Amino acid sequence: MKLQSHHLRCTECGAIITADALNSIFRCPTCNGLYDVIYPWSSIPNGDIPASSSNLPNASALRWLWQERRTSTLSIDQSGVWRFRDLLPIVDNPENAVTLREGNTPLYDLPRCAKIAGIDWLLAKHQGMNPTGSFKDTGMTAALSVAAERKFEWVACASTGNTSAAMAAYAARAGLRSIVFIPEGKIAWGKLSQSMDYGALTIQLKTDFDGCVRILTDLVNRFPIYLLNSVNPYRLEGQKTPAFELLEQLEWQVPEHVIVPGGNLANGSALAKGFTEMHHLGLIPRIPKISIIQAEGANPLYRTIEENGGRELIPVKANTRATAIRIGNPASWRKALRALRTTGGWCEQASEQEIALAKAEIGAEGVGCEPASAVTLAGLKKLVAQGKITREERVVLVLTGHTLKDSAYTIDYHRGELFNEAENAQISPADQALHAALRKPPIVLEPDSDIVLRELESQMKLTHA
Ligand code: F0G
Repeated sequence: MKLQSHHLRCTECGAIITADALNSIFRCPTCNGLYDVIYPWSSIPNGDIPASSSNLPNASALRWLWQERRTSTLSIDQSGVWRFRDLLPIVDNPENAVTLREGNTPLYDLPRCAKIAGIDWLLAKHQGMNPTGSFKDTGMTAALSVAAERKFEWVACASTGNTSAAMAAYAARAGLRSIVFIPEGKIAWGKLSQSMDYGALTIQLKTDFDGCVRILTDLVNRFPIYLLNSVNPYRLEGQKTPAFELLEQLEWQVPEHVIVPGGNLANGSALAKGFTEMHHLGLIPRIPKISIIQAEGANPLYRTIEENGGRELIPVKANTRATAIRIGNPASWRKALRALRTTGGWCEQASEQEIALAKAEIGAEGVGCEPASAVTLAGLKKLVAQGKITREERVVLVLTGHTLKDSAYTIDYHRGELFNEAENAQISPADQALHAALRKPPIVLEPDSDIVLRELESQMKLTHA
């Protein structure tokens, strides 16, 4: 199948430019807007042009080709991103793509979480099962491949941890130098260790994520560094592909609802783009609603919608233990808003206690995820309680990060040390009981089998009580 070239369109003023005209901060020189990558199939009005009667990729041919590639031994076919390269023509030669065989992530059912939330059918698309343990790999393989093809020597990002881990790994694969800027003391150790392991120059700045972004934006204007934050539109091209993979896994049956966590607010729009492209090409008959959930302590989009209907961003001083989404001034908030509006989804927020409970509930199903990912279940419960999602609707939670990313959080939770007294006091007696049933702190015993047996018996009594 012939690859199509691409252009970039400013999401604010609509100006269309060629890839060569893109500046180093990926913002429109006229209005400062962010760009979308566009293709011949990007702006077809929904369902108007049947794919078969145009020169666009044919839906049945794509399905067949994508399925065929599953049995190939080529690295780009084994990648769950580049397998969909027909809708990802962003590099001249995809055979040179920098890949760690990302994507190919499992779709799990969560029957117990479904019951807790009050719906019949709940699935989790576990993007934490990517090579570096987060969804960022799907975007990084795409944008890093562009950087390598354009012969950059240095790449950089500001990060709450996962982007830096992914960038460092892919840069190392491509033989590029990478610099990560992370907020000092405010990211999970597991993620910091990854960027060091993959050989990045790791700089902890004495500021928050938003401060790191400011410094990096200044730097890329003064040094030939390729910026790999999610303002880079090629990142989002990779991040749209889990939408394709999800539909393939669902045998092209479209779920009613997809729920994602919101931090810098790019991922929801990337998935919306993936669903929209599939819709335009006739691969799916409709687009699922996409909802975005933020932590209450890092809720700029939620506040913006509540307080001014989405007219102007209300930045916040972010504070949450879900460190991955500890972002107060998100770059892609307008893109996120557009994704909510075009798909008909909602923005919700979840408190620290609600996030911890949801994370333990996902863990108790043997799936597990990092705290930022657990906001999806916490948000789902609220949307069901508000009647915005009904029992029979099919919902997919996008779990963005692996549970081992932040094991300190999990250990503190199970030892009952996560919350301070004031926070504990805010938990209702009913929720206290739920937490108590979920907490499994390690038990220290003497090395004596009688003692161990007694403990097992008391545990059995507890279970059957
Ligand atoms: N979940 C996880 C695990 C993340 O790491 C992030 C973002 C998000 C959700 C939010 O995605 O920014 O597209 O809304 N992490 C960033 C980082 C910003 O630097 O790793 P978003």
